[in-house]
Amino acid sequence: MKKYKQSEITPEKIYKKRRKFIKSIGLGMSSLSLSTIPFLNKGYSQNKNELTSYEDITTYNNYYEFGTGKGDPFKNSQEFVTKPWSVTIEGEVDNPITLSAEEIISLFPSEERVYKLRCVEGWSMVIPWMGFSLSKLLNKVSVKNSAKFVEFESIYDPLQMKGQKYPVLNWPYREGLRIDEAMHPITTVVTGLYGKALPNQNGAPLRIFVPWKYGFKSAKAIVKIKLVENMPTSSWMRSSPREYGFYSNVNPNVSHPRWSQATERVIGEGIFSPRIETEMFNGYGDEVANLYSDMDLKKNF
Ligand code: MTE
Repeated sequence: MKKYKQSEITPEKIYKKRRKFIKSIGLGMSSLSLSTIPFLNKGYSQNKNELTSYEDITTYNNYYEFGTGKGDPFKNSQEFVTKPWSVTIEGEVDNPITLSAEEIISLFPSEERVYKLRCVEGWSMVIPWMGFSLSKLLNKVSVKNSAKFVEFESIYDPLQMKGQKYPVLNWPYREGLRIDEAMHPITTVVTGLYGKALPNQNGAPLRIFVPWKYGFKSAKAIVKIKLVENMPTSSWMRSSPREYGFYSNVNPNVSHPRWSQATERVIGEGIFSPRIETEMFNGYGDEVANLYSDMDLKKNF
């Protein structure tokens, strides 16, 4: 495993110290303008709320474009070129637009958003992301009423991404959300983590993060956002529709066909620590349960 230079370790230490200090003097995070919406930093009622280490977040990844092993993305993505980079927003919008990653990052100031990532494989991390609400970017293009869904497309570049030479998935990686899910304030365009630019293995320069859904709904290295009328077919739905549904809300009561989703392993805890209970909507039910009030979530998994 890679040894980090002192300069790389410091931000995590400062982060944790700063948090302790803020707690000890009784200030909310917002007073340091780290986070403006109170629920962003909520505790996980029954779960541990400790930040996963920078090292674990950046060396234990899923990013099949760079290989299917958990250490592959870190190993194989360091030379990945993310400049220049542009993102096109098109489809059912009044003002389609192409913006560079730099333009997006400077147009929409990032804030710290501490969210838990729950992977469909049954593990989780608590990550101090940097980012902003996707709705801000979508509002810039004036979404038409005909837009019912949003499709995200990751980059296709098999010369740089060796994993794309193999048909593990239908490339480019595609994901999607219903329009109200995409417009929800906690649906995030991620620009960084631990106060630093987003590492390549975590989806640089820009990725999506949807806190209440399994991690695969959060596409990395996006180049296109398309507003569409019909429910898009994601890469995972295409590869195994019985296992991966369009909604993929974190739900301890709906098992994956091959394993239970009732509990999860917290990355960074020792291998002998007990698994913790998985929460409905990954603990974000207060914010998002109303989006599904009239839906059968077993059918719409
Ligand atoms: N996005 C792309 N383009 N390719 C991928 O393979 N993997 C997904 C998601 N986004 C993936 C992706 C899965 S399965 C998970 S759990 C998360 O990214 C992992 O994000 P992390 O590596 O930052 O923890």
